[in-house]
Amino acid sequence: MLARPRVIRDSKAPVRDPRADEYPMPFVPFGWYAVLRSKELPVGKLVSLYYFGRALIAFRGPDGNAAVRDAYCPHYGAHLGGGKLVGGAVECPFHGWRFDAQGACVHAPFAERVPKVAIGGLPVLEHSGLVFVYVGPDEPSWEPGPIPETTSPQFAEPIDDRVRVRVHIQEMRENIVDESHFHYIHRQAEPPAQNLQTDGGPFAEIKGRIRRRVLGRDLDNTFDCSMSGPGVMVVRTHGPALSVTAIALTTPVDDTTSEIRMLYLLRKPAKAPFLVPFYKLVFKRLAFPEVRHEMRIWDSKIHQARPVMLPHEQGIKALRRWYKQFYPAESTASSDRTTRSASPES
Ligand code: FES
Ligand SMILES: [Fe+2]
Repeated sequence: MLARPRVIRDSKAPVRDPRADEYPMPFVPFGWYAVLRSKELPVGKLVSLYYFGRALIAFRGPDGNAAVRDAYCPHYGAHLGGGKLVGGAVECPFHGWRFDAQGACVHAPFAERVPKVAIGGLPVLEHSGLVFVYVGPDEPSWEPGPIPETTSPQFAEPIDDRVRVRVHIQEMRENIVDESHFHYIHRQAEPPAQNLQTDGGPFAEIKGRIRRRVLGRDLDNTFDCSMSGPGVMVVRTHGPALSVTAIALTTPVDDTTSEIRMLYLLRKPAKAPFLVPFYKLVFKRLAFPEVRHEMRIWDSKIHQARPVMLPHEQGIKALRRWYKQFYPAESTASSDRTTRSASPES
């Protein structure tokens, strides 16, 4: 089993209103999601996962390719995560049926003929040190692209921060286009100038500038952010002190909870690579409290289908227009009505 991610909840948080769990849109947008880092799935290891309201198992077949499949045995319902791998097939802990990486039953003790059954699963893609799965009504028509920094010797091993919060993943993504919170939460002098560009499909990009106060000095940074569907976002920040590539992986867990896994890759200072541990420490000290702070806000906030925005706050609306494509058409058509009735002030 992997280490359990922490669930962010503040003991001093306001009493949670049931409306904080109400969303007009389904909890699992269609797209690719990173459910594991490749190094968490060595050959011969069987991993139990729980995402998308589904118990899953992950393992590598005989060719080394990763497989992510449903966890329950069609024979009598045992959780296959409690079993073991035999020659790249998973063996059920209850009566020994075996299933290959494609899900097909390949062995059943004492059966005259192996039953023609299979366990369901999800399309898998692996690159950039990540195991992605696709969730959607059809086969995927697109893929997230490689992230070069993950294999570049110029970047340090990532700082890996994985937590779960009781919020929809769309709210997590809206954070990057919520201009005003950069001033209030992230101590930037003013809201960043940014502009969401989309390709009409699952990819979108934002480029912008931010001014941030670090250790008493104002530092001007540029950033560019590329989004690949609802599950993957890469934010590259370049500044005089540090360049950081942040990979934000947002994944629905069940119909109230989402996971955010942040992998922060710091560019090694060319003349002083030995400073990397120090840089990591400073980065964690500065960034983590801010991120935790907004997670606590997400935990108790409600979804405003019609937020009251200031004239310069265009990002959230633009993002929502782009994000609609990841839901079935009928689920977004009724969204305004559903949430208006849940908002006392509108
Ligand atoms: S429940 Fe899995 S083999 Fe019987
Ligand atoms: Fe933020």
